[in-house]
Amino acid sequence: MAANWAPNSWTSAEARQLPEYPDAQALDAATRTLSSYPPLVFAGEARNLTAELAEVAAGRGFLLQGGDCAESFAEHSANNIRDTFRVILQMAVVLTFASKLPVVKLGRMAGQFAKPRSANTEVVDGVELPSYRGDNVNDIAFTPEARIPDPQRMLRSYAQSAATLNLLRAFAQGGYANLHQVHRWTHDFMGRSPWARKYSEMADRIGEALDFMAACGIDPASVPQLAQTSFYTSHEALLLPYEQALTRQDSLTGDWYDTSAHFLWIGDRTRFEGSAHVEFLRGIGNPIGVKCGPSLEPEALLRMLDTLNPGRVPGRITLITRYGHDKIEAHLPKLVRAVTREGHPVVWSCDPMHGNTIKAATGYKTRPFDRILAEVRGFFAVHRAEGTHAGGIHAEMTGQNVTECTGGAIDVTEQSLADRYHTHCDPRLNAGQSLEMAFLLAEMLNEEMAERRKAAA
Ligand code: TRP
Ligand code: MN
Repeated sequence: MAANWAPNSWTSAEARQLPEYPDAQALDAATRTLSSYPPLVFAGEARNLTAELAEVAAGRGFLLQGGDCAESFAEHSANNIRDTFRVILQMAVVLTFASKLPVVKLGRMAGQFAKPRSANTEVVDGVELPSYRGDNVNDIAFTPEARIPDPQRMLRSYAQSAATLNLLRAFAQGGYANLHQVHRWTHDFMGRSPWARKYSEMADRIGEALDFMAACGIDPASVPQLAQTSFYTSHEALLLPYEQALTRQDSLTGDWYDTSAHFLWIGDRTRFEGSAHVEFLRGIGNPIGVKCGPSLEPEALLRMLDTLNPGRVPGRITLITRYGHDKIEAHLPKLVRAVTREGHPVVWSCDPMHGNTIKAATGYKTRPFDRILAEVRGFFAVHRAEGTHAGGIHAEMTGQNVTECTGGAIDVTEQSLADRYHTHCDPRLNAGQSLEMAFLLAEMLNEEMAERRKAAA
């Protein structure tokens, strides 16, 4: 357990990116109500995830983390949740089949409601209003009333997270994720994509393998793992009053866990030294992610790792690097060398989204798919050169057929961005682009494995 730490010890450190609630009493009432609610996840589940991530850190697994940039109250529906879930399953199956490594499935779901912003206010047509900070803080509508931070929104986020998690658990455990369903996870709208065809061929081979095994007596009745999967949830631990209210002491171990999600990460804007967010995260037992951008120096990272994981517990820390396709090969090696030299057992994960955002000529914020893939390639190239494991991917994606990132096999052009641009924040990969990326990841992971086998032989 962390020394000199309490769920509220962050309040004496410098907090950036937190809303200023106009009514302190209303905030107090909302967090008190939240504190009385049941936990969303259990400490034992968070420990299981740490154990799975420890395998990834050791080079024996791969982390697949994905979901919306920001979830919203407006887009909360069973179809939406199912569609993202099924694309994650498809990606997982592609990765597992190609690499023969277990894949840790982690949704950026059931709690991803708070957004850091580059400016406190936003100006539209000469009118200046407070920035939108995510649905558990204020409303995206551009009116003065909508932008006032409302603590009651945290209760709604909690309720929506509980409902989402409930459905995800049902999908993961209740038959939807059965490997015999592997063909059914494909969306109809993917029919035109060459990657859907490739997926279908792979699914045939999996079906054949399953039939063969069934004839040998290995089927879901005897091996339940064939019919279900573990699915975990994660979000950025940004809105600390919310996170604190859901932080509970585990009765089994006495350790503190943030029960709002299995995995929490700290963003690039809130991970500075002395930050309230680092202070909060250092005391919770959950596995945690650290976003690493170009401004993070190796020495500062090492100090942060000593703070967040003094016991060097494998699986506790995932470093999520986000540089941009043209910067990754210049920046990543020095972090990898420093972390390896100091013997910190981390998972290296690639966020190829946030460093590749541009503004299209049509005014839309977008991300060219070829740059996203270029960052993924750069990530694998660096880890191959350094002899470390390219351990995971962190993607902003959706199961919907949106047009938010340009490119891909079913080409989204700058002109077609307007067709189905639905995101509440950053542009996401659509289902087709996500599957396409999974095949690229599978190919590179496969190469890494082949190289490792060669080295061992
Ligand atoms: N339980 C195994 C796993 O989660 C196999 C499995 C079942 C699976 N359903 C799946 C793998 C769906 C990927 C996708 O890895
Ligand atoms: Mn984002």
